[in-house]
Amino acid sequence: MRTIDWVGDAVEIIDQTLLPDKCVMLRIHTVAELIDAIRRLAVRGAPALGVAGALGVVLADGDPDQIAALRAARPTAVNLAWGVDQAAAHLDEGRAAVLAAALRVRDDDLAASRSMGARGAALLEGDRLRIMTVCNTGGLAAVERGTALSVVQTLHERGRLAEVLVLETRPLLQGARLTTWELGRMGAPHRLIADSAGPYLLARADVDAVLIGADRIAANGDTANKIGSYALALGAERAGVPFIVVAPESTIDEDTPSGDKIEIEDRGADEIVSVRGVRIAPEGTQALNPAFDVTPHDLITAIVTDRRVIRP
Ligand code: MRU
Repeated sequence: MRTIDWVGDAVEIIDQTLLPDKCVMLRIHTVAELIDAIRRLAVRGAPALGVAGALGVVLADGDPDQIAALRAARPTAVNLAWGVDQAAAHLDEGRAAVLAAALRVRDDDLAASRSMGARGAALLEGDRLRIMTVCNTGGLAAVERGTALSVVQTLHERGRLAEVLVLETRPLLQGARLTTWELGRMGAPHRLIADSAGPYLLARADVDAVLIGADRIAANGDTANKIGSYALALGAERAGVPFIVVAPESTIDEDTPSGDKIEIEDRGADEIVSVRGVRIAPEGTQALNPAFDVTPHDLITAIVTDRRVIRP
């Protein structure tokens, strides 16, 4: 099952807001609908956003205002703007050329996921590995298989996975809702942990490696990823556990020199003061909701891409 694809004359996505209770496909026919789906995280994860951006240019039918709005729908994952640019570069050649370019972005993502999975698994030593991860970096964050979770899937297929410890990933619970769903479908052993348990479990020497994805990697290797990644990196450094970022080359942003220049999306108070529509804080409570953080490159053991292993 593909997370995102071009079907008929529309973009088809799995509506991730409904998982794990319901797996519903959504057909999107306009840029406005696609921007809405991106903002409410019906489609999410950097590689999937790249494909959404590219396919969205086909829906935009050459309208520069719609293309600009799509490119800016979410600010942190560079893949969205990158995907838009890949397809928009062919606007002069007509709709068929734009569609062909967008489908190339989709197909390259499928190949990239497999390549990252194999390269990441080869990098890790040992046979019964216990992996810690945050957010969702699996097939739901790409077209299929994903980034860090593609490494996990490859380890599992090769009989080298003992267990995955999955951070629940407050506030939107991508770990609890999506990563557990994917690992369950794979038959991979896993346990869900509270986000705040991550560094403690690293200190207890219960983990062989932390594997995360990335939304934007600056030229110096500083990496923006889901909020909570930086705390894991600090805990991993202290515990001597490898901290590995897995991301396609399209997530590397050579135009951004360092992490302090990466725009971090603030998603507003509602997601913090309530959980799935139920308020948990007193009415009127103010909140701060950075959706991502930046891990400095010196805390990263390796960045595994679809082409190489970088040691920042
Ligand atoms: O807010 P989200 O769910 O789009 O955040 C996703 C992440 O932070 C992922 O770790 C990242 O995009 C890499 S996905 C392979």
